[in-house]
Amino acid sequence: MEFRDLKQQYQYHKNKIDAAVQSVIDNVDFINGKQVKMLEHELAVYVGVKHCIACANGTDALQLALMTWDIGKGDAVFVPDFTFFSSGEVVPLVGATPVFVDIDEDTYNISPHSLEKAIEYARQNTDLKPRVVIAVDLFGQPADFGMIRQIADKYDLLILEDAAQGFGGRIGTKKACSFGDIAITSFFPAKPLGCYGDGGAVFTDNDKWAELLRSYRVHGKGSDKYDNVRIGMNSRLDTIQAAVLLEKLKFFDDETEKCNRVADEYTKLLRDTVKIPIVKDSMYSSWAQYTICFQDDEKRKQAMALLKESNIPTAVYYRKPMHQQEAFRDNAVRILDYSITDKLCKRCLSLPMHPYLQTEEIKQITDIVRKIC
Ligand SMILES: Cc1ncc(COP(=O)(O)O)c(C=O)c1O
Repeated sequence: MEFRDLKQQYQYHKNKIDAAVQSVIDNVDFINGKQVKMLEHELAVYVGVKHCIACANGTDALQLALMTWDIGKGDAVFVPDFTFFSSGEVVPLVGATPVFVDIDEDTYNISPHSLEKAIEYARQNTDLKPRVVIAVDLFGQPADFGMIRQIADKYDLLILEDAAQGFGGRIGTKKACSFGDIAITSFFPAKPLGCYGDGGAVFTDNDKWAELLRSYRVHGKGSDKYDNVRIGMNSRLDTIQAAVLLEKLKFFDDETEKCNRVADEYTKLLRDTVKIPIVKDSMYSSWAQYTICFQDDEKRKQAMALLKESNIPTAVYYRKPMHQQEAFRDNAVRILDYSITDKLCKRCLSLPMHPYLQTEEIKQITDIVRKIC
């Protein structure tokens, strides 16, 4: 059994994907080929925003956004304590200070209540200027952008939506990557929309920021790449990756729908046994992960061992909260209350999740989990 079955996906769509890759090779059009422009256009239309700027990966996308807003020394950036390292890593990279914030017990996304407390803490106890909140759409479900927008407006913060795991999610009919002032996603292969290597994209409705993002992406270019008007990065998306993504976008909604069916089956069979992931009313998840929560670390260990014996892969996302990462020892505010994240890191377990998971496989997995509990 695969954790995320990219092999089956490739087998189903092999002919079209192979042809798309071959056409880039035939045209020897590896950098900035026409597929990159086409993809940017299609993704912007899909999400419903004015600009999409493709780049080399999701981490660069986050950094590009912070550079565009000129975030740096003396600025506070609020980041959920329970997320992949990148969401916080980019903040000291641009010279600013991450302030870690606890999460919501049900959705595992940043808690608006804890966010407001963290902003007040930074205002009253530090010299930092609150500038940005990075709201992560963790495991596929959009963050609580209704509340986050109210708080951002109250304290004059910008919202950077980290939808690396959330592409394909929605609140009502509004799609992930359209909630932030700037939003980003990742095309890492195992992400909801994944390419065949590294890739990422930035989204915004703001024309001025879009122009800056395009400049920072290619060595701070001015009129062309040899006219350099600011210090930038080399963060382009390869044409081959764009060609793969254009093909995969065609069946993306169908696969996301299938993941939702898999999630429903898991939930039906597990809801009276373990804490299951909760998708709030009007939210639609793209199910980057299906993550359950055991009573304690011991039960999780037992479940992992028994599942492994049956060749069922699992993963712990995440074992260590951001505030405990050694890399943030001297450059972050990490002394607030993180009790929900701490608890979750000891108990969470992500189960196989992909559109090709069969009912019998789901039954096999859930039988083992139920046996342990
Ligand atoms: C929440 C989150 N943000 C950012 C990233 C970074 O994306 P990439 O691996 O494309 O740099 C990831 C990737 O795992 C992620 O899960």
